[in-house]
Amino acid sequence: MLNIGIILGSVREGRNAEAVTNWIHDFAAKRGDEATYEIVDLADYQLPLLGAAVPEAQKQEAEAAISAWSEKMASFDGYIIIAPEYNHSVGGALKNALDHLKPEVADKAAGLVGYGSLGGTRAHENLRLIFGELQVADVQTAVTFSLMTDFENFSVFKPADYHADNANKMLDQLLAWSGALKQVRENAQAVTS
Ligand SMILES: Cc1cc2nc3c(=O)[nH]c(=O)nc-3n(C[C@H](O)[C@H](O)[C@H](O)COP(=O)(O)O)c2cc1C
Repeated sequence: MLNIGIILGSVREGRNAEAVTNWIHDFAAKRGDEATYEIVDLADYQLPLLGAAVPEAQKQEAEAAISAWSEKMASFDGYIIIAPEYNHSVGGALKNALDHLKPEVADKAAGLVGYGSLGGTRAHENLRLIFGELQVADVQTAVTFSLMTDFENFSVFKPADYHADNANKMLDQLLAWSGALKQVRENAQAVTS
């Protein structure tokens, strides 16, 4: 059984990310894979900006948030990243959350889901650079929703049927690589222990 985290990558009030996250979660859960799919909402973790000074009164809370985020991300074999596009790139909240990680996500796989005027593809290309450095294997197929045609008034999510094909491909690739990389991690542990 593989554990897959679905990372809700926007903390904006009124965010579209919730509808997209719920859609991919329900879609994945209905496939009957040998996998669990759990939504992880960045808004549930009040992560400080990496390296920024935190007032003494908030230090304990900030450290607890960083630990909880780290432990949650370490518990998965792979990730589905819900990434909206901000200024042709990944949103700041998601980038900051990823900057807090390194060994927790190494030798694991990720599938990308995005939305924007061009489906969030520029945020995805940016994420692929970040994942290269984090040793995360991002799969080729991404699910890319258009703010113009998959949302009504840019806010009511009404995805076109054809996205199901890409969602299935992305999930097939993600599960294959998550399983393979689980073996890689186990092999590495056997060699070093
Ligand atoms: C500051 C800002 C910058 C944005 N830049 C882009 C952009 O470069 N390309 C794009 O396709 N959409 C852009 N958008 C539109 C967002 O992708 C859209 O608002 C999306 O719903 C944001 O995700 P969220 O609602 O889950 O926070 C931008 C939105 C904001 C607020």
